[in-house]
Amino acid sequence: MLQKNKISLSLTPVLLTPAFCEAAAALHQTSFDCPWSKESFESLLSLPTTIGWIDEKALLVCSKVIDEMEILTLCVAPCFRRTGVAEKFLDYLFQYAAEKGVHRLFLEVSVQNTAAGNLYDKKGFRPIGYRKNYYKTKAGFCDAVCMEKIF
Ligand SMILES: CC(C)(COP(=O)(O)OP(=O)(O)OC[C@H]1O[C@@H](n2cnc3c(N)ncnc32)[C@H](O)[C@@H]1OP(=O)(O)O)[C@@H](O)C(=O)NCCC(=O)NCCS
Repeated sequence: MLQKNKISLSLTPVLLTPAFCEAAAALHQTSFDCPWSKESFESLLSLPTTIGWIDEKALLVCSKVIDEMEILTLCVAPCFRRTGVAEKFLDYLFQYAAEKGVHRLFLEVSVQNTAAGNLYDKKGFRPIGYRKNYYKTKAGFCDAVCMEKIF
C-alpha cells in the first residue's frame, strides 16, 4: 500500500467546464479500471445538476439537487497521492456545500477501496447501507458501501 508522504501539496481547483473535459478524462484514466471518456464528462456537464472542479492533480465531480449533493467521482493522479490532496478537495467541497445551504452529502464507494474508505471515514462520512454487486471489477463484482455526511 502507498505510504503516507510528509509533503502537503496545495490545491487550486477551477470549475470543470467543457474546455476541461479532455483533461478530466485523462485524469480519470489514471485512477479507474473503467474510466469515463471526454464525451461522458461533456454529457454529465450538460445536466444542470452537475458541478465539478479540476486541478492539475485531481478531479472532483458532484451532483447537486436542492440541499443534497452526491460525489460522483473523485480522483488524484497517482504521483500526487498521499500528500493530502483529496482531503483538501473534500474541505473545498464542504465549504462550497456550506455556502450553498447543502445539508447532506452522500456517495458510494467499493468495499474493496481501502484508500477511499479511509479517506471518507476520516472526513466524517458514515456508512448508511450497501449495494450488492454494484461494481464490475476485473475479478467479478463487488459491493458498494453508501456513505453520508450530514451538516
Ligand atoms: C482515494 C484517493 C482519492 C485518495 O487521495 P489522496 O490525495 O492520496 O488522499 P490524502 O493524501 O488526502 O489522504 C487522506 C486520507 O485518506 C486515507 N488514505 C489515502 N490513501 C490511502 C491509502 N493508500 N491507504 C490507506 N488510506 C489512505 C487516509 O486516511 C489518509 O489520511 P492520513 O494521511 O492521515 O493517513 C486516491 O487514492 C485515488 O484517487 N484513488 C483512485 C480513485 C478512487 O478510488 N477514488 C475514490 C472513489 S470515488
